Amino acid sequence: MSLYKAFRSLVRRVRSVLILAVTILLLFYYTFENEIDMLNSFAENEYIPSIKDVARNEGGLDLADIRREGVLKDEPTGLDPTDLKALREKNKYFPLLISDASKDPSALLETSSDLDPTKFASHKERYPVLNEVSLPVILTPGEGSDLAVQSSVFEDEGVADEKMLRNIKELFVNTWKQEDLVGKISEFHWPMNLIDALDTLYILKEEEEFESALNAISEVTFSLPPASIEAVDISDVGSRALGGLMSGYELSGNATLLQKAKEVADFSLRAYDTPNRLPLLNFFWKSKLDNRFPYQKANAGALTSMTLELIKLSQITQENKYFDAAQRIYRTISLSTNEFDLEYLFPNQVDASGCTPISTDQIQLGRHLSQFKGMKSIDENLQFIHCHQTGKLISFNPKKVKQEQHFDMDAQAQLLYSNLVKSYHLLNGNDLLKFSDNYFEPNDDDIRDDSKIKNSPSGINKNKEKAQSSRHIFTKAMDSVRDLMAFNPATPLKENITLLSSLKTRTHLSPATNEVNVEITRMYDMKFERCSLASTLALGSKLFNMPTFGDFANDLATGCFHLIEEFGGFQPVELYLDPCENEQCNLDVELKVERTKNGHYYRLDSDKAETVQQDEIKVSQQGDVTVPPRRVLAFAYKQGPSFFRSGDLEVDTRKLQWKDDPRRPLWVNKMGQLRVLSPDAVEAIFYLYRTTGDAKWRQMARTMFQMTLETLQNSNGGAKGVWKINELYDDGTGLASSSWLSKTLKYYFLLFSDKNYYSLDDYVFTSGGHLLRKAEVKS
Ligand SMILES: *[C@@H]1O[C@H](CO)[C@@H](O)[C@H](O)[C@H]1NC(C)=O
Ligand SMILES: *[C@@H]1O[C@H](CO)[C@@H](O)[C@H](O)[C@H]1NC(C)=O
Repeated sequence: MSLYKAFRSLVRRVRSVLILAVTILLLFYYTFENEIDMLNSFAENEYIPSIKDVARNEGGLDLADIRREGVLKDEPTGLDPTDLKALREKNKYFPLLISDASKDPSALLETSSDLDPTKFASHKERYPVLNEVSLPVILTPGEGSDLAVQSSVFEDEGVADEKMLRNIKELFVNTWKQEDLVGKISEFHWPMNLIDALDTLYILKEEEEFESALNAISEVTFSLPPASIEAVDISDVGSRALGGLMSGYELSGNATLLQKAKEVADFSLRAYDTPNRLPLLNFFWKSKLDNRFPYQKANAGALTSMTLELIKLSQITQENKYFDAAQRIYRTISLSTNEFDLEYLFPNQVDASGCTPISTDQIQLGRHLSQFKGMKSIDENLQFIHCHQTGKLISFNPKKVKQEQHFDMDAQAQLLYSNLVKSYHLLNGNDLLKFSDNYFEPNDDDIRDDSKIKNSPSGINKNKEKAQSSRHIFTKAMDSVRDLMAFNPATPLKENITLLSSLKTRTHLSPATNEVNVEITRMYDMKFERCSLASTLALGSKLFNMPTFGDFANDLATGCFHLIEEFGGFQPVELYLDPCENEQCNLDVELKVERTKNGHYYRLDSDKAETVQQDEIKVSQQGDVTVPPRRVLAFAYKQGPSFFRSGDLEVDTRKLQWKDDPRRPLWVNKMGQLRVLSPDAVEAIFYLYRTTGDAKWRQMARTMFQMTLETLQNSNGGAKGVWKINELYDDGTGLASSSWLSKTLKYYFLLFSDKNYYSLDDYVFTSGGHLLRKAEVKS
């Protein structure tokens, strides 16, 4: 009995503990079971497009339907909640493959609770980098490190022009007061314009203003954007926020700025957490659908927009993740130079996901498992697809029909080349691609002599999957720019000037001759932002010791200047011109009137083969598994831009003026708005002055500055309201553009300062106009 009693009391005592233990055990068991279920379903899903328990219909949701039903972010309940849950659940395993931000379903899943920023304080990487490429702590001098960028001789000794400096400073101070950037700080956005202007304050020695700007900036948190911001423009944040903070740190040495820069960079790297580690340029940072490829419509240049800042940050903090992010993009680019119609040039839109769909037939053959690096993904109709990860930038071609490609050397496209050259400079003559293990450096003969590659059958194919050298990529691309984009327009100027056109290409394969015919149409348009390519060319010519690029830079910058002079200091956003056809490159008025009469001249009859002049200018090989087709480039015969309809261009034959716009000069077929504050030409002139030492560049800058001043004075008087000054009166608010302070006035100031004040041999200027100190080396 005592035994029974003892047993009962024991049971009583132990019972509660026992229940707890059993519960815990059960809990463990079910969690484990669940885990297995999940893994099973994942494995299953390699074959069958469904997720256990949640998928309602095989295909998933149709975004178009959701939109039609009017289910937007305010009322996600209008949609079957299981579907949204299913989408989120699926997205955990399968990345979204979306063409661009406007098609992004992120908004569908947003609720008001998403405004709680603490939920986003930390970020667990979905696609962590396993082997980060590292940047050596101590660099050895690279190949080009002993080449000076600045000229050794200056015609005018390169001393400061105090009078000009005073004028520039005065203009700066006036703008600074007008803008009151410190006063405009708010909790709803990052103070991008203020950060952008910070280093200019330092360079102009506006000490008090610098301090107050610094104080204001150090109050701002950069680890997360303000909650009201939906999508973050990663390229802009890189160029202005990250660049501005880094530059402020480099110049002033204030560690708070470095801390802020790190916050911006660490946040931005979340946008790089994609299967191929290329960034989402429009980053919906609060989206619940956070497993995604970079957009299929991206600009290759914009992808590189943080390169220099990340490299510098890596050097300072000795954290490889920054360098790896920057380097990986260029590695991908170096594998993609042959993917588009024109080698080494990238069309305005590239597919950054690098994913090509695998057809159902191929899936049935099991191709998605073996041969291809297949990845099951969710497309923008929220359907499952399998795609092959090429590891490259490819052309976005969902319908699989040959499409036109458009090549432009606009501000974005230039970034790819300017960041490449400047990273070489920043690393003191070391090639950033060199630090990857499949680096390939062709020697100079290979660069210059295409026939050599053509004659060695294995040549280019063997090297196709290797990271080519920066120098090689830069040289090939700039050769193409010179051969294909540079043109001489017909103008009333005395000079024969050089400008850059954008290009349209169409290809067709001719199986009989095994040739890919690339038909190129020059648009004979000009955008002033293309002028800053002269800066990159001038820098590249020094760093890679290629004087011909220096000549090209000289021609382009001179052309830009003459055009601005012709427009009285204004820079139209775009111009459509006629190419030079006679000795003087002058406009033949009679011919022009004749051509505009019948309307045929400016129309592109694209279907007619005879309009194509098979004017072969370059032949090279395109890599392929079988016998590679030869690539033949030919200019289309047509002269003018294709979209002028008859009626667009009509001349009043009596007054010899355009009927639609009598103020537009007769030699200009079409013209965008006029601006006065663009930084591109003065940036180019600054680089040319410092690299050549030729005093003519300062003279040009004086003329331009004077014209700008007069324009500003006149338009402020309000009397001459003929032209709309777009950049000065943005939407009538009177806001000067950010680049006026961060670039235009900075370059003017440095141009007239002593030649050694922030020398190009010590500093690298980012595309946003911010300064980073060149790396030190130890031999
Ligand atoms: C950097 O600037 C902030 C804000 O003005 C200031 O509080 C801090 O002391 C500065 N740090 C250094 C190292 O100068
Ligand atoms: C204009 O200059 C280019 C070189 O920049 C040259 O190739 C072309 O022949 C020149 N045209 C005329 C008509 O002088």
